[in-house]
Amino acid sequence: MYNIVSAIFLAENIKKIEIQAPRIAKKRKAGQFVMIRVSEHGERIPLTIAGSDPEKGTIAIIVQGMGKSTRELNMKAAGDTIHDIVGPLGTPSHIEKFGTTVVIGGGVGSAIAYPTAVALKEAGNHVITINGARTKDLVILEEEMKAVSDEAYITTDDGSYGFHGFVTRKLQDLLESGRTIDYVLAIGPVPMMKAVAEVTRPNGIHTVVSLNPVMVDGTGMCGGCRVTVDNEIRFACVDGPEFDAHKVDFRNLSDRNRMYLEEEKLSAEEFSHKCRIGLDQ
Ligand code: NAD
Ligand code: FES
Repeated sequence: MYNIVSAIFLAENIKKIEIQAPRIAKKRKAGQFVMIRVSEHGERIPLTIAGSDPEKGTIAIIVQGMGKSTRELNMKAAGDTIHDIVGPLGTPSHIEKFGTTVVIGGGVGSAIAYPTAVALKEAGNHVITINGARTKDLVILEEEMKAVSDEAYITTDDGSYGFHGFVTRKLQDLLESGRTIDYVLAIGPVPMMKAVAEVTRPNGIHTVVSLNPVMVDGTGMCGGCRVTVDNEIRFACVDGPEFDAHKVDFRNLSDRNRMYLEEEKLSAEEFSHKCRIGLDQ
């Protein structure tokens, strides 16, 4: 069992949970994730480690309540426990001094992009962050992103805060203003990552995305997380989750992510029903 030290909502339905996990806190690197099982009979869910404090022995995860398990996790509070956590898993982000880097987080993807922005800054890069959300109330980690950025931009789809438009429009503007950009990291919904790849492709800018296929074991055993990169099958849990954006088959990723939508919907509906009538899950 793992103890929850704190749990706070950053935006509607998006919670930051700090968990006592000293071994993981000591070992984890930017870009890595953990597999979490909320309760004994629950499914395993992959969640990127958003930060850690090796002294306190804690890791932080940021969770958007979408399906049954993430909603169950989001109902947890300080003092509650999580059944098991395995990690750190995955290949860490490749960090070096690239020069001028742009870190793009779309929605809850900002939580995953943030630790890599920290590592890029520590490696001496000029860090530009673009933190996008549908609307003002859904912007997360604004202060944290600003603190590690040489330039920080917020975008909202509805123009309620910051730049009015998608993150890709802001990136396009930077390129059109003549800025030299050496590296781009984009993490968020699949259409966003695909769109970023198309913006940087004509300029040949090294662009990395973090993929989020369905995962079961997270250790390369089941093949559930297979993605197509450079026309080859790769396992996101061990070969990734970060890959060269210009080589990812995004259509294949979207199709595979849609495979279990019906089951996920049913499971979430059943969970909502149990919550409404107050049954123990
Ligand atoms: P969202 O739909 O609110 O989008 C966030 C931002 O992404 C938008 O504000 C916009 O700037 C940009 N964006 C969205 N669609 C775009 C497009 N077609 N072109 C250009 N830019 C676009 O995001 P959300 O609701 O927070 O995200 C939910 C989705 O993100 C889920 O599908 C989830 O699975 C996925 N996700 C992915 C990762 C990952 O590791 N890649 C991690 C967490 C969540
Ligand atoms: Fe099973 Fe990646 S989750 S191989």
